[in-house]
Amino acid sequence: MTRAVGLFLQGMGVLALVVVVAGVWFVFSAADGFGARSKPSAVETLIARRVRLASIPARARSMTNPVVDDAATLASAKAHYADHCAICHAADGSGVTPIGSAIYPPAPDMRDERTQSLTDGEIFFIIENGIRFTGMPGWGHAESGNADDSWQLVHLIRRLPGFTADEVDALRSMMPRSAHAHEGGADHHAPKPGAASHHHDEPEAAPHSHGTDAS
Ligand code: HEC
Repeated sequence: MTRAVGLFLQGMGVLALVVVVAGVWFVFSAADGFGARSKPSAVETLIARRVRLASIPARARSMTNPVVDDAATLASAKAHYADHCAICHAADGSGVTPIGSAIYPPAPDMRDERTQSLTDGEIFFIIENGIRFTGMPGWGHAESGNADDSWQLVHLIRRLPGFTADEVDALRSMMPRSAHAHEGGADHHAPKPGAASHHHDEPEAAPHSHGTDAS
């Protein structure tokens, strides 16, 4: 065995030891076990985030939003968000919903720096591709070749920090009934028992298919 190979094997041995020690530390540091209800530790969050951002191709990161940010875009994005996103991310973007808070890792407050500091391209990439090993689904449009819906949502996410209480209420009222009845805890829009669901006769603001219903 040459000296180089010996050194290499020695290095691998040390590395294996470090991995085992880190693993044991990780298991014992999760005092409450590995349920989805515990909060991720700071270290775990940092590592997960680094890995996630590193997985976004540079080309995607620097993409600019091709969709104009006007009233029509916002209206369409709101309908879309109410339909597909608010069940986890909440009407106000806080992530405080029974699902958003109970999955692991939890849905982040998208009004905060953490999300707002992402580039438009990064947010777009995340919406299209989802985030592995988390509750965040990928909503890609590869089949329909139309990514405008996701770009509209990027504009909406940028506007979340400035949403007024009225805007949040209006958006909440657009959520599908089961989600909306559960969202955010306090629900002052819940239909009275026996009242017909008002969601079926609501005008659709704009085409807002995401996923398989091609349009
Ligand atoms: C089933 C729940 C769920 C649904 C539905 C959902 N998300 Fe998420 N989303 C998550 C979770 C959980 C995370 C955080 C994952 C993590 O910590 O890595 C996330 C993360 C994100 C992020 C990254 C934010 C950040 O700071 O890391 C964006 C952007 C996002 N979601 C947008 C959307 C949009 C837009 C929709 C609707 C088209 C949507 N999500 C639907 C659960 C969901």
